[in-house]
Amino acid sequence: MRDIQRDISSLKTLSTIPVVMKRLLETISDENSSFVDLSEIIQHDQSLSERVVAIANAPYFWHSGLINNLEQATLLLGYDLVRSIAISISVFDLLDKDEARRMRELWAHSYEVGLIAGLLCDKVPVTSGAVCFLAGLLHDIGRIIFYTLYAPEYRPIMFDEAVTEKEKGLFDVDHSAAGGWFLEYSLFPDEIISAVRHHHNLKGCERHKGIAITVHLAEALSSLLTARNEVDGFWSKDKERLFYKSGLKKEDIEHIGTIVRKESPLVKNFFEM
Ligand SMILES: [Fe+2]
Ligand SMILES: [Fe+2]
Repeated sequence: MRDIQRDISSLKTLSTIPVVMKRLLETISDENSSFVDLSEIIQHDQSLSERVVAIANAPYFWHSGLINNLEQATLLLGYDLVRSIAISISVFDLLDKDEARRMRELWAHSYEVGLIAGLLCDKVPVTSGAVCFLAGLLHDIGRIIFYTLYAPEYRPIMFDEAVTEKEKGLFDVDHSAAGGWFLEYSLFPDEIISAVRHHHNLKGCERHKGIAITVHLAEALSSLLTARNEVDGFWSKDKERLFYKSGLKKEDIEHIGTIVRKESPLVKNFFEM
């Protein structure tokens, strides 16, 4: 029997994991690590540092003015959040470049769910917009973890419409559990872990329910607003009820739709960096 949790905890020892990601994951276990160590690791990789700054400038981070560099990003968002962003980006970098198109779509799906979660949080605040955005961005991280650990078996089902059921058949757990373990192991903020763990099923979610509902709804909304095959959560009557019960309105869907459409070229540029 495979031990998924153990495999996730030893992810950084895999020979295929890039050095930057190994070093980022190592800063977690090092209590004495500081912003200086973190920024050294990030700055060492130009593409990573550019993308951390680009994410820190995303509209839902609601700070005034433009962030030009890593130092400013850390000042405004804090060490924990910047490290979380850097690890998130390096996880997405694990996706095989040969399958770039499909994988880019998964990144784009994640980015859109992040964007929508941030916007929903702006309408009904459950925590900070930045945390909601990050939870949305990471909601499907378990799919990348499965892909990294078990590519030959996982690749054929990765984009299946019934992906969660198929994952349970292969691994006994689905990507929301795997993603939750990875983030727990990587010491991400508790709220983000809870939202990722419950993005497909809110049952059993007791802590940080607000953000979990926000990400759950953000994914469903993304299936309404964008036509991507990588979407793995759909709009339904139940979700519509939950949406209105959460204090959201019909106009909110229209407003969010406008922003998502406006952001869409930006998302594209972002992936071509
Ligand atoms: Fe998912
Ligand atoms: Fe998803």
